[in-house]
This record gives sequence, C-alpha cells and structure tokens, in this order.
Amino acid sequence: MTQKIAIASDHGGYSLKKAIKEKFSSYDWVDLGTDSTESVDYPEFGYSVAEAIEKGKVEFGVIVCGTGIGISIAANRNPAVRAALCTDTTMARLTRQHNDANVLALGERIIGEEAAFDIVEVFLNTEFEGGRHARRVEKLSQ
Ligand code: RB5
Repeated sequence: MTQKIAIASDHGGYSLKKAIKEKFSSYDWVDLGTDSTESVDYPEFGYSVAEAIEKGKVEFGVIVCGTGIGISIAANRNPAVRAALCTDTTMARLTRQHNDANVLALGERIIGEEAAFDIVEVFLNTEFEGGRHARRVEKLSQ
C-alpha cells in the first residue's frame, strides 16, 4: 500500500485508530485526529476525511467511532465518498470489489482489534472489479 490513507476517529474510536496505525506502521497514514480520548463530535472527523478524499489528498480513508455508524453517516454526506461500515472481511472484500468503497468505517465497541486489523488489510488490498459494478457505482454519483 503506497497511497496516502487518511485516518480519523472520535474519542470512541481513538484506541482502535492508534492500534491500526501501529499495526500498519509502513502505510502512509494522514492522521486527522482526534488525538486523545477526550470527548469530541464524530461528524467533524467524518467530514475531515471526506474533504481529504474530495480534494484528492488521499486515495482511501479509515474512520472509527464507537459503532462506526455516526462517523460513516457523516463521511457519506460528501458525494466524493463511498464509506462502508464493515464488521468482517467478507464485507471489506465485497465493498471494494463491488462498491469501490473508498472509506472504511469501523466500530471500536463492536469488533475486536484482531478482526479490525484483518478488515483493514483486506479493504486496503482488494481491487475494484469494475465491469457491471462500474455502472452501478456511477449511478451513486447522479
Ligand atoms: C460517542 O459516544 C458515540 O456516540 C460515537 O462514538 C459513535 O458510536 C456514534 O455513532
């Protein structure tokens, strides 16, 4: 993985964000916060990653909150983003192959660290299949 990847979380996802950066320390992370477990508002962090995608500063994003839901709702408000909340590696593989998802959302309160690491690895190393899926992904931008 040579591309830049934005990563952000709220306080509920801070520990998992930190663990992901440590586990995949060779990846080119652009950390957009938060920087502690002090309470913050998840929309701000979903929006920051979305903006980095929209402006072409990064190719992918990883966002984490307690459930992964709030921060993915926020990120998906930006038309440049296709954020997928994944709880297993099958979802991670299929959302890359079929949806060309560019942001992975994770819930620190929902899945364990080992599962999250596997999901991140699969998500960031699976190619979009194109073909019939390209037409459908295209329709998401209309
Ligand atoms: C924060 O307490 C929590 O609501 C947040 O991390 C997330 O789970 C929201 O969807």
